[in-house]
Amino acid sequence: MIKLGIIGTNWITQQFIDAAHATGEYKLTAVYSRTVEKAKDFGKPNGATIFSDNLDEFFANDALDAVYIASPNSLHFEQAMLGIKNDKAVIVEKPIVANIKQMEILRETLEQHPQSRLFEAARQIHQPNFKIIKNQISKLGRIQGATLTYMKYSSRYDAVLAGQEPNVFTLKFAGGALQDLGVYVAYDAVGWFGMPDDVAYYPTLAPTRVDGKGVAILRYPEFDITLNIGKTSNSYLPSEIYGLKDTIVMSNPADLETVSYHDAEGHETLISEKPADNPMISEAADFARVINDPQNEKNDRDYWKWLDLSQNVAKLLYNLRQSGKIVFPDDKK
Ligand SMILES: NC(=O)c1ccc[n+]([C@@H]2O[C@H](COP(=O)([O-])OP(=O)(O)OC[C@H]3O[C@@H](n4cnc5c(N)ncnc54)[C@H](OP(=O)(O)O)[C@@H]3O)[C@@H](O)[C@H]2O)c1
Repeated sequence: MIKLGIIGTNWITQQFIDAAHATGEYKLTAVYSRTVEKAKDFGKPNGATIFSDNLDEFFANDALDAVYIASPNSLHFEQAMLGIKNDKAVIVEKPIVANIKQMEILRETLEQHPQSRLFEAARQIHQPNFKIIKNQISKLGRIQGATLTYMKYSSRYDAVLAGQEPNVFTLKFAGGALQDLGVYVAYDAVGWFGMPDDVAYYPTLAPTRVDGKGVAILRYPEFDITLNIGKTSNSYLPSEIYGLKDTIVMSNPADLETVSYHDAEGHETLISEKPADNPMISEAADFARVINDPQNEKNDRDYWKWLDLSQNVAKLLYNLRQSGKIVFPDDKK
C-alpha cells in the first residue's frame, strides 16, 4: 500500500484521494496545510493520521512514500524539489512548473535522487480515449491540422470583475488560461503530434494582466493546430482533427468523453469508451504501477515517456507565453 501525503485542501485534492483509494493501491496518511486545524478537518474524514503545517517536516516524514501536490501553480516547483530531495514519489498537479528552467532543475535533481519519481497529474493522457485517438490519428493518413477548443467560464472570474485577485488569475501564482485549461490542449497537441516547429500566442488579458483567454497557433511542417482557450467565456464547440476527407471529432479536448470518427462518406462511428466517473482513476493507477514496481521494463519505459512529454509540454507552454509576452515573477529568479 502506497502511503500518500497531500498538499492542498481544495476539491481537486478530494477528487484525487477518492481516485487513489478507488485503485486500492494507496492509503491517505498525511495532510499538509497552512494551518494544522485545516489539515485535520480535511484529513481525518479521509483516514489521515499525520497533520502538518511545516513543509520540511512533512516531506522528511519516513511514513510517506508519495506526495500529491495541488497548491497554486507557482508553489509546485519548490514543493516538488523538497519531495525529490526526500526521495519521495512526487505527483504534481498540472502545470508541473511555471517555466522551463524549473523543469530542467527538477530533472537534474532527479538524477541525484534515483529513488524518487516525478509525475505530472495530466489526467487525460492516462485515459483510454487519449490512446484511442492517437491510434486513430495514425490511420487518418495525411493530417491537415486540428482545432482544439477549451473555454470554460471560471467562477473565480466573478471575483476578478469585482476587483479581487484570486490565485489562478495572478502572475504571482503563475496563473492564466494557458497555465490552466491550456495545459490540456498542449498535452493533446504534443502527445498526438509531437513538438511544433514554431508557435504564436495571442492572449486577451484579464484586468489582473494574465491571459483570460487566447488563441494559439502551432506550426508543424505540413499543418497547423489552432488552440482556443479561455476562462472568461464558455464555448460549446467540439474539437476536431482533420485528415484529407476524414475527421475525428471530440466533445471536449480534456475530458474526451465522446469521440467519433467521420469518414469520407460522412458516416459517423463512435470510437470512444465510456470514461470512469472519476477522471483521475487512470492516472492514479498508472502512477501506482510505477511506484510499486519501478524496475519493471514497461513501467520504467512509461515513466520516462510521461516525464519527457511533461517537459515538452512545459517547453511549449513557455514558448507560447513568451510569444504572448506574459512574464511571471518566477521567470526572473
Ligand atoms: N487536474 C485537474 O482537473 C485540476 C482541476 C483543478 C485544479 N487543478 C490544479 O490544482 C492546483 C490547485 O488548484 P486550486 O484551484 O485548488 O488552487 P487554490 O484553491 O488557489 O489553492 C489550492 C490549495 O493551496 C493552498 N493555498 C491557497 N492559497 C495559497 C497561498 N496564497 N499560499 C500557499 N498556499 C495556498 C490551499 O490549501 P491550504 O489552505 O490547506 O494551505 C488550497 O487548498 C493548480 O495547480 C491547478 O492547476 C487541476
